[in-house]
Amino acid sequence: MKLTTSAALSALALSFTALPAFAGDIDAGENAFQSQCQNCHNVTNEDGDVLAGRPNVRTGPNLYGVIGREPGAVDGFRYGASLVEVGESGVVWDEEEMVAYLLDPTSYLREALDDRRARSQMSFRVRDEDTARDIIAFLAQFGAVEEDEEATEEES
Ligand code: HEC
Repeated sequence: MKLTTSAALSALALSFTALPAFAGDIDAGENAFQSQCQNCHNVTNEDGDVLAGRPNVRTGPNLYGVIGREPGAVDGFRYGASLVEVGESGVVWDEEEMVAYLLDPTSYLREALDDRRARSQMSFRVRDEDTARDIIAFLAQFGAVEEDEEATEEES
């Protein structure tokens, strides 16, 4: 009778098991990050060490640990309301969500919120999916949350 719950849980476990593998090429991702992203973003850890990009770049939020966390969650960064709303809806940045976002932030937000007036404050798009995956593989090295273990232990 409660079959739906356990089916959903095992589907969840499966999808988390598949999560740690990233399709992209880290070195290509580093080059693409340098040429396309670091004008607006850097990657800075909790100790303030800049791991990618340049210091004092604050147009876009710090991307440290971005994979595995919800959108719009860097303390003190003034996000647009739409991205914050997507984060509050329970979405987490994984490879597929972020590919869609990078290829077209505005369309991504409009689809996620089912709201044609949703707006992005990131006025930049990655031109092709492979490059997006490379950049994601590069970013995943920095502070990625290992959710697979926690999520699968959850059953009672
Ligand atoms: C022109 C500046 C600019 C460029 C270039 C840019 N971004 Fe952004 N990015 C932003 C801004 C501003 C936001 C916040 C968007 C909002 O609040 O709607 C953002 C948000 C993001 C987010 C969501 C972060 C979070 O905390 O939820 C990701 C992921 C992201 N950018 C990745 C990238 C990547 C990868 C590149 C390079 C391919 C890139 N951005 C290029 C300005 C930029």
